Amino acid sequence: MQAIKNIGLKDHDESRQGEVLMLDTKPGLIDARKFYIESYGCAMNFSDSEIVASIMSDMGFVTTDEFREADVVFINTCSIRENAEQRVRNRLKEFGAVKKANPGMIVGVLGCMAERLKAKFLEEEKLVDVVIGPDAYRDLPGLIGRVDEGDRAVNVLLSREETYADISPVRLNTNGISAFVSIMRGCDNMCSFCVVPFTRGRERSRDAHSIYKEVEELFEQGYREVTLLGQNVDSYKWQNEEGTEQVNFAGLLEMVSAVSPLMRIRFSTSHPKDITDEVLHTMSRHANICKYIHLPVQSGNSRILEMMNRTYDREWYIDRINAIRRIMPECAISTDMITGFCSETEEEHQDTLSLMEYVKFDFAYMFIYSERPGTPAAKKYADDVPEDVKGERLKQIVALQHVHQLERLQQCIGKTYQVLIEGTSKKSQDDFSGRSDQNAVVIFPKMDQYKPGDYVNVKIERCTSATLMGSIVA
Ligand code: SAH
Ligand code: SF4
Ligand code: F3S
Repeated sequence: MQAIKNIGLKDHDESRQGEVLMLDTKPGLIDARKFYIESYGCAMNFSDSEIVASIMSDMGFVTTDEFREADVVFINTCSIRENAEQRVRNRLKEFGAVKKANPGMIVGVLGCMAERLKAKFLEEEKLVDVVIGPDAYRDLPGLIGRVDEGDRAVNVLLSREETYADISPVRLNTNGISAFVSIMRGCDNMCSFCVVPFTRGRERSRDAHSIYKEVEELFEQGYREVTLLGQNVDSYKWQNEEGTEQVNFAGLLEMVSAVSPLMRIRFSTSHPKDITDEVLHTMSRHANICKYIHLPVQSGNSRILEMMNRTYDREWYIDRINAIRRIMPECAISTDMITGFCSETEEEHQDTLSLMEYVKFDFAYMFIYSERPGTPAAKKYADDVPEDVKGERLKQIVALQHVHQLERLQQCIGKTYQVLIEGTSKKSQDDFSGRSDQNAVVIFPKMDQYKPGDYVNVKIERCTSATLMGSIVA
């Protein structure tokens, strides 16, 4: 099966909403049942949708990008913040309207919200036929079978072992150049604000050799960039059954970077408590491991970090930043921040701003704290920062980040970067769009001899606050 659509996935962008994932219909399968899948949330969820597509395709289903004509409509959901769940509920209403006219249509809720709400989903949303947690996708044939027989079905069992290592993902909405490769699942960290440990279960690492094999296959298919995915990639740890072979994250990077010097390696997400100098040195040794680290800080204040159970403080975070700058001066750094966490004072908010001044992040995802039911923070602390104060603090953080980002990009002007061409620019047919090693988007005029998947050197001439612009140089 060939993937045909590129909607331009960004890595770890939780603001992505409802992108339609689709691939070509198999010729000769006109009468096959059709399924539609829409994904919300983080890259893990998008990667899981590719596992789901693989299992559905083995069951004889083909995809469609039009939910109105689908026999099965899946929504792969996110619970990270209240508004992520609200978006899903709104979308379910739209599916409901179509289902009224076509009662045979099966509606399935997948992913984190399915896991969080479990069978309650069937009570709350009458149109939902099947609820499937992130570790239960192998049970799709059984679950769809039960719905076909007229039941409503739920499987939200979490697993300590499932990594879907042997399932070959069907690449969805791909540009044919970049792909996600899941290297682990779950999270053992219990940050007090976070719902992920409850929706994704215990941390487990995938067989290193199956990861290598997947990257190798991607390379053979023409892919030139992979992003290794996990909630905390630095705690990746795999050993074979005999215990004679052990691979940590630095070791995995070392292995995977050997697939080809032409295969770029990215990863997400790093955790400040676990990122080691060994990983940084491994990155610096290999030209094809991209010099870009997403290192979520959440807050610049040590008391708040302690309440968040992040298990590092401001000084530790700064030490990690210094290590990155020392070992790879050219490395770009991005982050996530939560503003208005329980009891956060104005002074503590200022600490976040001053940390931002220190680091000058190349990019940041910035969020207002959203209390999630059942999390340690919801149980222990009052969500007591008023909404207008949260909003004002977010505004300040966003404004400062904007300044830093522009400053960072302006520093690139006049320099030359190696860019992997991803495709035609969305804004102009005459331009290519690609990314620098540091993950900046670069736009430049096409030249006949180059095509997507090629590396070119681009000299930067101008920038906006989000994009670099330049020309190919020899
Ligand atoms: N595993 C990653 C983050 C996954 S969730 C890590 O540990 O960094 C992505 C981001 O969503 C988090 O970094 C955090 O900034 C944000 N987030 C998580 N829970 C949140 C909540 N309850 N309210 C607001 N933002 C939240
Ligand atoms: Fe959530 Fe913390 Fe795990 Fe990230 S490390 S997924 S924020 S519990
Ligand atoms: Fe990802 Fe959202 Fe689940 S961020 S892990 S899809 S709660």
